[in-house]
Amino acid sequence: MATAASSSIPPSAQQFLPPSSILIVGSGVFGLSTALALVRRDAFAQTSITVVDRSDPSQPGTFPSSDAASVDTSRIIRADYADAAYTALADEAQAQWRKQDKPTDLGAQGRYHEAGLLLVGDDTPPAPTAAPPASQDGLKPKLTGLDYARMSWANVVSLASKDPQLAARVRELPSPDAIRDALGTGGSSGSWGYINNNSGWANAAASMNWLFDQVKQTGRVHFVPGTVVSLERTGDTVTGAKLSDGRVLSADLVVVAAGAWTGGLVDLAGQAVATGQVLGYIDLTEEEQEKLAKMPVILNLSTGLFIIPPTDRVLKIARHAYGYINPTTVTNPPLPLSPSQPPAPQTPISLPRTAATHPSLSIPAEAAADLRRALREMIPWPALHDRPFTKTRLCWYSDTPTGDFLIDYHPHWRGLFVATGDSGHAFKFLPVIGDKVVDCIARNCPAEFREKWAWKVTEAKAGLPVNVVTEDGSRSGKAGVTLDQALAEDSQREV
Ligand SMILES: Cc1cc2nc3c(=O)[nH]c(=O)nc-3n(C[C@H](O)[C@H](O)[C@H](O)COP(=O)(O)OP(=O)(O)OC[C@H]3O[C@@H](n4cnc5c(N)ncnc54)[C@H](O)[C@@H]3O)c2cc1C
Ligand SMILES: *[C@@H]1O[C@H](CO)[C@@H](O)[C@H](O)[C@H]1NC(C)=O
Ligand SMILES: *[C@@H]1O[C@H](CO)[C@@H](O)[C@H](O)[C@H]1NC(C)=O
Repeated sequence: MATAASSSIPPSAQQFLPPSSILIVGSGVFGLSTALALVRRDAFAQTSITVVDRSDPSQPGTFPSSDAASVDTSRIIRADYADAAYTALADEAQAQWRKQDKPTDLGAQGRYHEAGLLLVGDDTPPAPTAAPPASQDGLKPKLTGLDYARMSWANVVSLASKDPQLAARVRELPSPDAIRDALGTGGSSGSWGYINNNSGWANAAASMNWLFDQVKQTGRVHFVPGTVVSLERTGDTVTGAKLSDGRVLSADLVVVAAGAWTGGLVDLAGQAVATGQVLGYIDLTEEEQEKLAKMPVILNLSTGLFIIPPTDRVLKIARHAYGYINPTTVTNPPLPLSPSQPPAPQTPISLPRTAATHPSLSIPAEAAADLRRALREMIPWPALHDRPFTKTRLCWYSDTPTGDFLIDYHPHWRGLFVATGDSGHAFKFLPVIGDKVVDCIARNCPAEFREKWAWKVTEAKAGLPVNVVTEDGSRSGKAGVTLDQALAEDSQREV
């Protein structure tokens, strides 16, 4: 039978024949948008499409899972990238976010707010003798936060130059005072930056509900609530997924889009690992929210600390950094790197730890103190200084060394495709990423992303460490700290 699955090896371009069934594991941004894009393609008109997720779509408010990266009060929507390819892709996405004429448009009903983005860094030039450090693969130079901010500035200025109205909405802020003026809270942060009023933020949970409705309305996608414990295989072919209750879902092609959990199902050999990022929420009064109504999103690239303007009287403070890893020894080993390799049950894998499975989980004190520092600097109102967080959360990225996504056929298993490696910045692509995933499934991956998103580890390079350090220039902090180490430091401090 000639299916996509049987043509997945070798990976060179071949005539693509759509599989008769596709199983998508995970209903976050990657999984759900892929389902919608498949339904919209004529080539897949005869393909049956199933989405399985730990959460139950028939239960209101629980779909996708509340601990999925795609579910939260807000996510930044920006084309502000140091990498021009992502700037261009985000520009495509923004055209969709900006649609809000009809209630059913993506950006309507409060799902998208073009509040502006203030990106700041430190303008201290690097020491003159310091050569740019090489990243792990030795190919790309490692960027600093300021490098990132400056390259991003160049990219958004170039993007906006196509339209004078857009161009007028981007302005350089060369000093702390200029930053203070643009922030409008009385606070400032960093010493150089820019404001881009063409960026904003989205209500993530509401946007996921919108996406789910779009998929549901097609009537073409079968949703299965359930937890995948392992992938099924026969010989060198993946044939489906086994659920915790013993059921087996079979398909010609399995697309694993399980976010930061992916490494628990497929051995990613160090190409992507789960890193935990911290968030804190503070309740505001109606009056306080009103005072922040014109505040832009602010992101300090020297530290990764950022604040998103409040909604429903909740203010969110977060940190986009190297994050914590959480090496976990799994009972069910993931699918090995190739059919000839035995599973490696003893190798710990960094996997998410969330409040869904660990109800008493809290963020390390170090992180809470950092979030508070951001609040005091960016919104220096005495009334807020010590107001307790109403909620804190660990949210997990699937981090790759370069910050590029991992969207490709598996090189050694037939019938297996992965769509993950979100590296903490995929939400904004909700309206466009599914289409690109399907292009890659159809072996027509966009040229500018083919290398970036490719599966990179061959068998020979297998067995890389559990830790991956993302060096796209947007990260800072201490790399490689485990969540347990950070939490242990708290208890030492208390003694
Ligand atoms: C704190 C934080 C802030 C962020 N800020 C931004 C931002 O400002 N802008 C931006 O663009 N992006 C941002 N991101 C990144 C963005 O949210 C993610 O890139 C995106 O949501 C990833 O989507 P996903 O589909 O890969 O993963 P997820 O949304 O995590 O989806 C994975 C799904 O797989 C399911 N699953 C996992 N394992 C199994 C299993 N074994 N069986 C069944 N189902 C399973 C889960 O239930 C989940 O629904 C942020 C992320 C975090 C954590
Ligand atoms: C913001 O960046 C500056 C340097 O650019 C740094 O000194 C400061 O601590 C940062 N502030 C926060 C809250 O991250
Ligand atoms: C961005 O928007 C804010 C709020 O509307 C406005 O005060 C500011 O002047 C704008 N800045 C630019 C550069 O357009």
